[in-house]
Amino acid sequence: MLFDSYHCFTPQDFVFKIAQTQLELEGYWALRRAIFCQEQGIFHESDQDTVDERAIPIVCASLVAGMEDLVVGVVRIDEREPGLWYGSRLGVAEEFRSIKKLSPGVAVRNHQPVYRGLGALGAGLIYKAVSTAHALGCREFLATVQHQNARFFQRLHWEPMGELELFGLAHVKMRADLNYYLPAANPAIVSTSTRSRRQHSGRRRLRCDSRRRRLSPVCGGRNARVFRGERSMVRRLFRGDG
Ligand SMILES: CC(C)(COP(=O)(O)OP(=O)(O)OC[C@H]1O[C@@H](n2cnc3c(N)ncnc32)[C@H](O)[C@@H]1OP(=O)(O)O)[C@@H](O)C(=O)NCCC(=O)NCCS
Repeated sequence: MLFDSYHCFTPQDFVFKIAQTQLELEGYWALRRAIFCQEQGIFHESDQDTVDERAIPIVCASLVAGMEDLVVGVVRIDEREPGLWYGSRLGVAEEFRSIKKLSPGVAVRNHQPVYRGLGALGAGLIYKAVSTAHALGCREFLATVQHQNARFFQRLHWEPMGELELFGLAHVKMRADLNYYLPAANPAIVSTSTRSRRQHSGRRRLRCDSRRRRLSPVCGGRNARVFRGERSMVRRLFRGDG
């Protein structure tokens, strides 16, 4: 019947990527403003600062029928000294926090572990941020994390380095264990030199990459099953003809 109630559609498919298009960038700035100005009230009209002049903006966008719909998560990364990278402005739109329904395709499409038990979009953004920096030469990845989120980061293999106050709020400086964040495998964001090395080393290297991916401690449990089940698809994606 026309007036029957209906369930709201909730996307279960997501992509994690460097924001590049106008829509992605607009969504990135709008979500940062919504979280850090309106929701948390840390900044007034804008949360932009000088870090944004050199930072790489990363977004998580929902997919509807395979096409990008809304930016639902943000984070930025920047290199402050050679090899020393920072992540900041991590946030997920309120209605997409701690989501429980996630398509297994999210892990395959993004070449990264995202599944219930490890975490969903927040954890996925952290993985994307650190593994992207790792692919770009990061040797140490740090963040100053709001105190209430320190346990969340610890579960994702970050160690606390000390407490401090920022913007009147308690924060914890933390370091990511890079052993748990393999360099990003998505050719679109890997630097040219890494990409050409990967192309030259051919199939043997690809096999090695996918095996390491399966054995990585952050890739255990459900995610490992996703990768085993989709092995041929992952190989195609790694070869770049998928
Ligand atoms: C922190 C934040 C990014 C997490 O995003 P998210 O999408 O909810 O995270 P995920 O769904 O990947 O992971 C959630 C899991 O971690 C747990 N978790 C989330 N926040 C946590 C916290 N502060 N402490 C401990 N565990 C936490 C949840 O219980 C959940 O576990 P479950 O899957 O077993 O239920 C999100 O809550 C957010 O945007 N907060 C507001 C912005 C903010 O605080 N930014 C500053 C970050 S330093």
